[in-house]
Amino acid sequence: LKTDALTRIANAPDAAALEALRIEFLGKQGSISGLMKTLGKMSPEERQVQGPLLNGLRTQANDAIAARKEVLEEAELEARLATEGLDLSLPAPETPRGSVHPVSQVMDELAEIFADLGFSVATGPEIEDDWHNFTALNMAETHPARAMHDTFYFPDTDGEGRRMLLRTHTSPVQIRSMMKQGAPIRIIAPGRVYRSDSDATHTPMFHQVEGLVIDKDIHLGHLKWTLETFLKAFFEREDIVLRLRPSYFPFTEPSVEVDVGWQDVGGRRVLGGDGDAPGHGWMELLGSGMVNRRVIEFAGLDPEQWQGFAFGVGVDRLAMLKYGMDDLRAFFDGDRRWLDHYGFSP
Ligand code: PHE
Repeated sequence: LKTDALTRIANAPDAAALEALRIEFLGKQGSISGLMKTLGKMSPEERQVQGPLLNGLRTQANDAIAARKEVLEEAELEARLATEGLDLSLPAPETPRGSVHPVSQVMDELAEIFADLGFSVATGPEIEDDWHNFTALNMAETHPARAMHDTFYFPDTDGEGRRMLLRTHTSPVQIRSMMKQGAPIRIIAPGRVYRSDSDATHTPMFHQVEGLVIDKDIHLGHLKWTLETFLKAFFEREDIVLRLRPSYFPFTEPSVEVDVGWQDVGGRRVLGGDGDAPGHGWMELLGSGMVNRRVIEFAGLDPEQWQGFAFGVGVDRLAMLKYGMDDLRAFFDGDRRWLDHYGFSP
């Protein structure tokens, strides 16, 4: 019985056959169980001999079943893996990944370029009050320049009776920086601004970066050098040429509009070169100037002691010029094909 039982267990083809054998030998009516029952009728001497033998047989059968079970389970797992055909060398299925938006990318680039020039990044609220956005920037309640900003006003004043609005430019951060940290100052302030305006080159929300330097004996030469250094680094061209034109902003005096020279390269306008050369031209790029002494006063500093310059640039416009994009509205459509086209998705 013993050899028969052990060979059949060892050769059981599957789990069901193995279970049948367990019942045949070790079940209630099983042959080994049957032999165990005969022990009762044996004489004590006989039982002393047969007892350990039968017990040993039962243990061996049990162990053999457990061992066979393990082998069968392993084989089954292997068979299943083989039929499932799992190929570990195949590439994983692609999941769409996000990427840095061109506007964020440009703001990062600006922060990096200006960090090298010793500027830190300042921020201010997008929901601004009338005083920081206009009055402290030398635009009194009745100032005509206010009308040019197409301001989104909130219907109600805040708790302290202030008229609230969506900031129309990043210039209020000038005021907040001067009031908060005093002088000297070297900051840029990138962020969202809002004007009620919409066409191919205007969106109601867009991005600006403000620059502000306040120190002793600052003059227009510092402004020009800073802008030249920044634009050469940003457009990665040494041949960037600037033209400074007299202009007007209430918060700067004198005010300077800055143009950058472009040249025609195979029908495309490429920045770089003297805009006055034949086939070249000038493109208006940003507004700037020496901070108006009234603004320095509004912000609580002494204009006899401190002077400075400020500038404001459209970030979206910088991105369009650098990456050759032509429709500002596409920046805010969230269309991945557009990002793909300009190489902004991974
Ligand atoms: N705030 C101005 C605008 O939005 C730009 C500017 C900033 C001009 C700083 C001069 C100095 O048009």
